Amino acid sequence: MSVDFSKIFEPISIGGVTLKNRIMMSPMEVGMGESGGFVSERLIEYMKERAANDVAIIITGSIGVSPEGRGLATQLSCYDDKFIPGLKKLTDAVHEAGGKIGAQIYHAGRQASEQITGLQPIAPSPIPCPIMQGNPREMTEEDIRIVRQKFVDGAKRLEKAGFDIIEVHLAHGYLLHGFLSPFSNKRTDQYGGNLENRLRFPRQVVKSIIESVKVPVTIRISAEEFIEDGLHIDEVIEICRILEQDGIKAISVSAGSYGSLPWVIQPMMIERGFLVPYAEKIKNAVKIPVIVAGRINQPEMVAEIINSGKSDMVALGRPLITDPEFVRKIKEGKQDRIAKCIACNQRCIDNVFIGKHASCLINPRAGNEIDIVIQKAAVKKKVMVIGAGPAGMAAAKTCAERGHDVILVEAMRELGGKISLASAAPGKSEFALTGEYYTREVRALDNINIKTDVKADSDLIKKEAPDTLIIAAGSQPVIPPVEGIEGENVFTAEEIMLDKSFVPNKVVVVGGGLVGCDTALELASRGCEVTIVEMMPEIARDIGLIVKMVLLKELEEAQVKVITGKRLKKVTQEGIILEEEGKESQLAGDAVVLAVGYRSRNVESLKGIVKEEYVIGDAREVAKASDAIEEGFLIGLKV
Ligand SMILES: Cc1cc2nc3c(=O)[nH]c(=O)nc-3n(C[C@H](O)[C@H](O)[C@H](O)COP(=O)(O)O)c2cc1C
Ligand code: SF4
Repeated sequence: MSVDFSKIFEPISIGGVTLKNRIMMSPMEVGMGESGGFVSERLIEYMKERAANDVAIIITGSIGVSPEGRGLATQLSCYDDKFIPGLKKLTDAVHEAGGKIGAQIYHAGRQASEQITGLQPIAPSPIPCPIMQGNPREMTEEDIRIVRQKFVDGAKRLEKAGFDIIEVHLAHGYLLHGFLSPFSNKRTDQYGGNLENRLRFPRQVVKSIIESVKVPVTIRISAEEFIEDGLHIDEVIEICRILEQDGIKAISVSAGSYGSLPWVIQPMMIERGFLVPYAEKIKNAVKIPVIVAGRINQPEMVAEIINSGKSDMVALGRPLITDPEFVRKIKEGKQDRIAKCIACNQRCIDNVFIGKHASCLINPRAGNEIDIVIQKAAVKKKVMVIGAGPAGMAAAKTCAERGHDVILVEAMRELGGKISLASAAPGKSEFALTGEYYTREVRALDNINIKTDVKADSDLIKKEAPDTLIIAAGSQPVIPPVEGIEGENVFTAEEIMLDKSFVPNKVVVVGGGLVGCDTALELASRGCEVTIVEMMPEIARDIGLIVKMVLLKELEEAQVKVITGKRLKKVTQEGIILEEEGKESQLAGDAVVLAVGYRSRNVESLKGIVKEEYVIGDAREVAKASDAIEEGFLIGLKV
């Protein structure tokens, strides 16, 4: 049945501001500001590109109203007039590109970074944030008055800078949500206790802003905190009703707080569109527009939400990092060509957590719009790419887009390489979208000649005589050289993932990185008793914060045992022998699964034949899929 996308393009008004369609760019702190909180050219180019591709309204990442209330050095600020010119440049750029722009105004409360601000965080109650682990001070009534005024002053500056709406951040455990939530607000005065009291300060802030600016004021709120003694949907509905009476013009629905971080920026294990039922409940209680976000990465899902009236608008965050043309492609009937965010978090929020600007595993150009423009090559070349894994496909796609003629040679029948394997793990099926996207794109380009089931060798290279050779032949599992490793009870993680019928009783997984953890979960889901053995002091060291939190919880729930700090010494008929500081111990298992990493495939026989030659991806150095795609893309720009 064909999907009707037309309703997405019906305009909607938020407090008198007309939006040309129903898609908002969800607020995202992308680490692109200048240190100190100023707008940068990088941020302008990044937002301009999304606005130029028909996103109706972009909401900025959170903008700090006070120096002690900031979470990142690069986060925008509005606590001084000095920030206005940069912010004005940003709003002008988005307006010129045909979009509207809203400012998300916030104070991080106990979730501020003391390391960055050098100031003690303030909070409703002096309870450290479970993630930031700071030492917050309980706000006095005087603090409450001062911060309320800072919100007002900040909002006035944002209005002056040309923002079309002001979104007050009542979500994610930051200061105002911190007051709303019984999880972080333990006060016994008029600002704590029952809902009326917990709402008092956030309500004062919202009302004061409404009284002080002419632009519409909206809120973003966590519909559900997903913490037992946190803020739940019933109270949130009540809050929305009250704030609607006070004059807010729209409600943007999100989830979680730092105490439940995976619900704030949901990894792929969380169901697509999980917030839609919450948004629907809120919508049924109010008359103003409701906007829903969270793992909505399919154009058909956007249409279904809008068509069914469960929400008036959809806010897309990461999907618009991945594909800035998401909305335009729907408008032009090319929705099949959208690159879909897989909620891996690897290059967006994980980058921001380590002080880099956000980009994307699938789209390495994201965040680099200022530096990278894909241009036709000056001289057309014949390019041969060996290997159609992530690096090879990214290289082939970029070379072809730049006008080169490409031959893409793959030894397997299917394209995709290790990506297909990653998607076989429990809860990781979204990974398949990456392979699907690149496969579709390379197949759609007329100037790529794809040869599958073909093993490239020196004869083939000589026969094709390309101007440029890109070797992206990937990697193969490391087999540690220990006694018994050739035994029939030893398997690689790949073999386990590919043979779903394999169900031993007791399994030892050697290696506790991402592949080992995924394999352990897969085996546990088949009913096996699983132990992970890792020689380092902890498992999941190569995984970003949010995915790691979910994965560790899943391993615990699946009763997977974990042994760290011990090295595999020997494999026996009965299991394995481990060694720690010269002391040996035994671990029983019917099967031993190796997940101790990969090593580059030997490509020496392919080298030295073509003058312009590159070895990329795992074939050069084993790394993550995101590194491989980025490298392929960058080589594609260079050829
Ligand atoms: C890099 C990054 C930064 C974010 N920063 C903010 C923020 O500043 N304010 C906010 O309300 N939400 C923030 N979020 C949450 C998103 O707005 C969005 O709700 C979430 O990513 C789920 O939607 P999505 O699946 O469309 O990305 C951020 C998300 C990401 C990935
Ligand atoms: S890095 Fe992963 S989660 Fe982030 S935008 Fe790209 S695909 Fe989505």
